[in-house]
Amino acid sequence: MKIVFFDAKDYDQASFESTLPRWREAHPDAPEMSFLFYDTRLSLSTAELARGAQVVCVFVNDLIDRELVGVLEGMGVRLIALRCAGYNNVDIEACYGHLHVVRVPAYSPYAVAEHAMALLMTSIRRIHKAYIRTRDFNFSLSGLTGFDFHGKTVGVVGTGKIGACFINICRGFGMHILAFDKFPNPQLAAEGVEYVSLETLWARSDIISFHCPLTDETHHLVNAASIAQMKKGVVLINTSRGALIDSEDLLEGIKSRQIGAACLDVYEEESNVFFHDFSGHIVADDTLARLISMPNVIVTSHQAFLTQEALANIAETTLDNILSFHTLGYSPNELCYKCGKLETCPRSHQEKCF
Ligand code: NAI
Repeated sequence: MKIVFFDAKDYDQASFESTLPRWREAHPDAPEMSFLFYDTRLSLSTAELARGAQVVCVFVNDLIDRELVGVLEGMGVRLIALRCAGYNNVDIEACYGHLHVVRVPAYSPYAVAEHAMALLMTSIRRIHKAYIRTRDFNFSLSGLTGFDFHGKTVGVVGTGKIGACFINICRGFGMHILAFDKFPNPQLAAEGVEYVSLETLWARSDIISFHCPLTDETHHLVNAASIAQMKKGVVLINTSRGALIDSEDLLEGIKSRQIGAACLDVYEEESNVFFHDFSGHIVADDTLARLISMPNVIVTSHQAFLTQEALANIAETTLDNILSFHTLGYSPNELCYKCGKLETCPRSHQEKCF
């Protein structure tokens, strides 16, 4: 079975190649698998690289639209294996009846939640600035004043796997938790997490962290109108998807001092820049350049997931997904358009795909 990887970095190749022998020991009857890794993204102009493969393995910025689905199907591809949880980059409706789509629903919620807290601590305690100062033997403390997290109110939007981990971390700091979720988690509510409306969360939170998926409903959830409802000096953390935040409105909020700090692991136009080295080049995205130039904005390039544990889990679950598809014709981690794009599709829906 030939599997072609797009947007594959050295760490992807290393984790898949080191996981395969271990995984094979546990699955001695699995078919032979050959991997081909390409650094380039999957697009109409690169799709030819997938010829002869049954499976294409893609990441968050490989945009798969209706036209590309037709091209891949025509070449004999049968399965799109996402190496990530989010799937807003794939037209699931267009895939229905043509290509199966599987994802890795959870690889390490801890990795992402811990990165969110790392960004928050770095930003508020000015660790990034202190690091640069002391390397230059500048031991002055001027301009490095932060604030205690203890006793502050943190608003968490999306209390699924990552949101719940982030809540646990915040509890350890003695923070009060407010939460908003379309489907509140009764266990968290029983543990004292206060579910409130979005309006209340905006108004009462000192810090707001986003852990919900990007959907039509959540697109630009943070915009001029919602920013105006937030506390002056609010700190925003986004490790979910860039387009949850309107970047221009965020910039205005920062310039007007309404937003005290922004910690961003994702950015709405990230597909043009993230994961590439532009040092020594002029970045054409003015909004990103202006955000990065702000002293109270920290940007990491979609690295929240990047831990050894998460990479190993991604490789293992992807291989499980491919094996399950090969032997059963479907996978428990299938994304089914018919039943609301959920992976918990009754098998009958997936059978209709082919
Ligand atoms: P999850 O599916 O466990 O949790 C998502 C939560 O969001 C659920 O509780 C769901 O009810 C809630 N939700 C859905 N629609 C909502 C809405 N309109 N308003 C408020 N809440 C809503 O997902 P998980 O694993 O916690 O991941 C969350 C997000 O984190 C993913 O969608 C993905 O975009 C992002 N992510 C980012 C990574 C990174 O490296 N920066 C890595 C992995 C995920």
